[in-house]
Amino acid sequence: MRLAFELSGESESIPRAEVLAIFRGLVVQEIERVVVMDVEIFDQQLANRLAMTHAVIEVKDVCAQKLTSIYQAAQNIELPRVSVAVRAKRIGPGLKSVDVEATIGKALAERGFEIDLAHPQLLVRALLSDDVCIIGKTLTQINRSQFESRRPRFRPYFYPGVLLPRIARAAVNLSGIKAHELIFDPFCGTGGLLLEAGLIGATALGSDVDSRMVFGTKMNLDYFGVESTLLVQDAMRLALQDECVEAVTTDLPYGRSVSIHAQSLGQLTEMALDEILRILKSGARAVLISHNPIEREVLDVGFTIEGRHTQYVHKSLTREIVVVRK
Ligand SMILES: C[S@@+](CC[C@H](N)C(=O)[O-])C[C@H]1O[C@@H](n2cnc3c(N)ncnc32)[C@H](O)[C@@H]1O
Repeated sequence: MRLAFELSGESESIPRAEVLAIFRGLVVQEIERVVVMDVEIFDQQLANRLAMTHAVIEVKDVCAQKLTSIYQAAQNIELPRVSVAVRAKRIGPGLKSVDVEATIGKALAERGFEIDLAHPQLLVRALLSDDVCIIGKTLTQINRSQFESRRPRFRPYFYPGVLLPRIARAAVNLSGIKAHELIFDPFCGTGGLLLEAGLIGATALGSDVDSRMVFGTKMNLDYFGVESTLLVQDAMRLALQDECVEAVTTDLPYGRSVSIHAQSLGQLTEMALDEILRILKSGARAVLISHNPIEREVLDVGFTIEGRHTQYVHKSLTREIVVVRK
């Protein structure tokens, strides 16, 4: 089955990488803000995990972005005999969405489909990107507003400057963690990453050297009904066995708004990376978020870099997200 993922525009590379990290299909086409992939079956639970995708469609046709081609395609696509509505999404320059909706709607009405704009049983979606139009059946529209309800200021324990839920969810997804696998955050702070990990069904293990943060994480996770195991420990000396976790996702301290419990940031980064490498299972991934470039340090420790992303926050803050594999 061929799927098209309509990616959000909030980052250049993270939305695409997030899809590829959790859907392990064969990518057949990539155009601006759309990934087309062949999969055996559509997994709704995996789609529900996505933070930076707007919608997933089952591709029925791909044609040139011209009204005549789109009309012809709509005359022939196979769809179940139910009531339909059409939504077109324009990404970049090209045809107007309303014209495409009208063209597809006309072809479907001529074929005898009932058009029901208020309560359609099926939403036909057209993605207009680069010079093509991808037409398909909407399988899911991601409820991105769910992340708003978990914004840091709505949690019982608040600390300024922490990750927002959408980027935290994407970071968890970039690790490729599956439900029931163990994911660890050695600098858990107020628990933003563990919260998103727990909500997708992973087993959350977290620690922080500051006991107030660990209590804060506990309050936040309890509030959202996420079970976890939490420890007060120094990330430079973890009380965990070798090769015991399936993924690590963490936001490294950067020595500005939060205190560093180490002689220097350099020493903390190096020793914590050594420990992360030690406790990760062989072949597992770590997703490391930082405010400073850390590529040299992760390579020195012995990781392989699989991906590197930047997230613009505001003019004096751009985060680096490095995906590494043991
Ligand atoms: C950037 S914050 C993590 C923020 C977190 N992602 C969140 O959303 O709340 C970094 C955390 O590292 C902790 N920390 C500093 N030095 C540490 C050390 N040596 N071992 C473990 N944690 C440490 C701080 O207490 C702080 O909570």
